[in-house]
Formats: sequence, structure tokens, C-alpha cells
Amino acid sequence: MMKQLFRTKPVESETENTLHRCLSKWDLTFLGIGAIIGTGIFVLTGIAAATQSGPAVILSFVVAGFACVFAALSYAELAASVGGCGSAYGYSYAAFGELVAWIIGWDLLLEYAISVAAVANGWAGYFNNALTAIGLTFPDVLTKAPKLGGIINLPATVIILLLMGFLIVGVKHSAKLNNIMVAVKLVTIAVFIGLAVFNVNPDLWHPFLPFGWFETLPDGKTIGVFAGASIVFFAYVGFDAVSTAAEEAKNPQKDLPFGIVASLIFCTMIYILVSGLLTGVVHYSELNVSSPVAHALKLLGFTWASALVSTGVIAGLTTVMLVLYYGLTRVIFAMARDGLLPEFFNSVHEKTQTPVRVIVICGVIMSIIAGLIPLGDLAELVNIGTLAAFVLVCFGVIVLRFTQPDLPRPFRSPYSPLFPALGMISCGALMAFLPAQTWWRFLIWLMIGIIVYLVYSKQHSKLNK
Ligand code: ALA
Repeated sequence: MMKQLFRTKPVESETENTLHRCLSKWDLTFLGIGAIIGTGIFVLTGIAAATQSGPAVILSFVVAGFACVFAALSYAELAASVGGCGSAYGYSYAAFGELVAWIIGWDLLLEYAISVAAVANGWAGYFNNALTAIGLTFPDVLTKAPKLGGIINLPATVIILLLMGFLIVGVKHSAKLNNIMVAVKLVTIAVFIGLAVFNVNPDLWHPFLPFGWFETLPDGKTIGVFAGASIVFFAYVGFDAVSTAAEEAKNPQKDLPFGIVASLIFCTMIYILVSGLLTGVVHYSELNVSSPVAHALKLLGFTWASALVSTGVIAGLTTVMLVLYYGLTRVIFAMARDGLLPEFFNSVHEKTQTPVRVIVICGVIMSIIAGLIPLGDLAELVNIGTLAAFVLVCFGVIVLRFTQPDLPRPFRSPYSPLFPALGMISCGALMAFLPAQTWWRFLIWLMIGIIVYLVYSKQHSKLNK
């Protein structure tokens, strides 16, 4: 039987089908790596190094990784004990009830939708780079958001519309394909590491902390290692996607915690290595470009490797977008199934057997956002939303330990409540390092969510009835 990581058929039909329990702990780990490694390491590392952390971007990755490990342990505990269709939405339903679950679900919509738009921006950077390499160039105004002096980032818009088409016709994303794509990404990274490691110039690591630890500039911009951490945190977004595969896991109670923690630890090591090397081969100030890894290889004189890496990144980022896009439809389904979103979103097209409405509405909105808003702004918004979800997931572990002490817990976050509390503190601190503007955007989104809940969801909730 074909191992499927995700299908675009309705959730209901899947829950009854135990035949799909076919993912091993290694498939889950690869699913995690497939969703995690993306624009964060391939693009944001360069932006963060050049504008916020300097060579100390490596410390930014350590700080962000530290917060994620605590959150991951909490995710692992809830994925193994609460189970369900996965995702923080389901866990917070169990821990806090409907209102908080709604807020988390609403928050996850932001996380997944804006992530797809952000990764599409990263994808576009490498795509443009590859085009330039073969002598074709898009006009500048068609590759940049208005804020950066362009009209629209056309490649970012188009890739999302293409993925929308794939999902509508019910593209099957198999574990095998995912594993191949992960291998492509890892080879891409290995090529970079293999070449960069012999070209390190330790002088480039001095000064190591050109922007200090943390400072807010008069224009509201934040700089320093911690500000960098709150941006490169984006590189870790996606490990929670492993938990959304709960229903397809062979042995979810054991394998989900393994997949979540193993993929996160593996990616953290890769990130530390790559970010350290990147600033060791090119001066950090030169890395504020849309395809920094390929750019660094080009500056080192490895034009062939630069082209190879661009191709690998283009392929790799496509799977990240597919997994996140799919995750988005999953959360919308779960919320519509519980009556919190209109039934309209829970329908499946007769012919294609896919949730065409959800796919099209999300696809159009995300493609517009991807075309008009620059990567940095998008990543900050994703991060604040994801960090808020992580804080609540960690808090949920503590609450459930008290309210449901006898709940079977095949995996327990160690040193609870200390570790979940550290998760809350570290994720909360990373949120605090994000600029005020991002906070405002996030609060407006939450405000809209609460209004929708009061006006619609509360009345239509199936559980309330
Ligand atoms: N972590 C994913 C990325 O960096 C979302 O692209």
C-alpha cells in the first residue's frame, strides 16, 4: 500500500479508515524535517545575519532552538495523550475548552496561511536566482512587494496558485515522495557544507556581536541576537506538523513524540552548522539578499554549486508549502466540523473528492498576500502567532496534569511543570523581542477572531449544543 502523508479528502472519511495507519517513526521524522527545513535557513539566516545578529546569528538559532525544544516536549506529551486529529487546536480543546481552542485555531489559521505566503517568497528568491543563472530575468518590479519598491512578487503569487491547482485535483503526497524531497534538501545542504567548510575565513566572525544582544531603534526596528532569534524562529516552524499526522501513524503514542523531538534536534544541528558556515565564508553584511546560500557559493566561485543548490531549494521549498497548505485545510476542517466555522468549508467536491472551496479561498488569499507583503513582515507575523500557540500548548500540559492527573500519558514531558513553564517563558520572551508593529497586527487578527466567535461560532458550536 502506498504510504500517504496527506490526502485532500475530508477528515471524516479518514478517521474511520484504520488502513491508513502506515507511517513509521522514521516516516514521521522525515515528515518533520520536510516541513521544517525551508525558507528559515535558506533565506532568513542571511537577512537576520545582515540586519540583526551579525555572525552571532548562530546564537540566534541556539536561542530559538532552545525555546522550541521545550515546546516540542509539550507537543509530544499532548500528541501522545490527547491525540485526536492533531494540532494545538485539538489539545487546547481538551485543556481549556472552546473559547481558548477557538483562539488557538484562529491563530493557527494565521500561522499556516502566512507561512505558505512567506515560504513562497523564499521560493521566489531562489527561482529568480535560477532564472538569472540561465540568462533570463524578470523585471525587478515584478519580483518585489510594493514596500520594497516593486509592484508585485509575481513568482510567489504564481507558485501558490499552481499548488492550489495540484491540491484541487487531489495530488497525492506520498511518504515516498516526501522522503525523496527531504533527501534532495539534505544533499543541497551537504553540498553547501562540504564546500563552505574548506573556505572559512575566521576573520569574518569578528566582530561577532556587531548588533549586541537586543536593542530597539528609534524607527521601531529591533536588532541584536534576541531580535534575530525571534525572526529565525521561523526556521523551526513546522515541527508541529508531525502531530497532524496522528491518524496515519502506526503507533502514534510512541512514534509521534519520537518524530517531533528527533526532527527538531536534527534540524537544530543543521541550522547551527549552516549559519556558522554562512557567516564564515561571506561577510555578514553581504547576506541581505533573497537567496543567500546560493549567493555565498557564487561569491566563493562555485557557480555550478550555486545553481545546484538553487534547484534543490526550489524543490525543497515546494514540499514545505504543500505540507503547510494541507495543514491549513486540516485545521479549517476540524473547526468547521465542530461548528465553529460555517458548514460551507466542510464540503467536498463531487468529482475531485477534494475540499475545493477551502483550497480555492485559501489559495487566492495567500497568493495575494505573498505577492504584496515582503518576507520579513510575513515571517514576524507567523512567528508571533506560532509562539502564542506554543505558550498555550505548554500551559495546556501543566493544566491537564492538574485537571486530569489520571489521563494515560505514554510520553511525559520531563521535569513538568518546570520544562513546560520554561517553554512558556522562552516562547513568551521571543514574542516580546518582536517589533511593536507585529504585535499590533497580531492583536488585530485576534480581535477579529473573538468577534467572529461571539457573532457566529458560539451560536453554531456543536459541542455547545
Ligand atoms: N520552517 C519552515 C521554513 O523555514 C516553515 O520554511
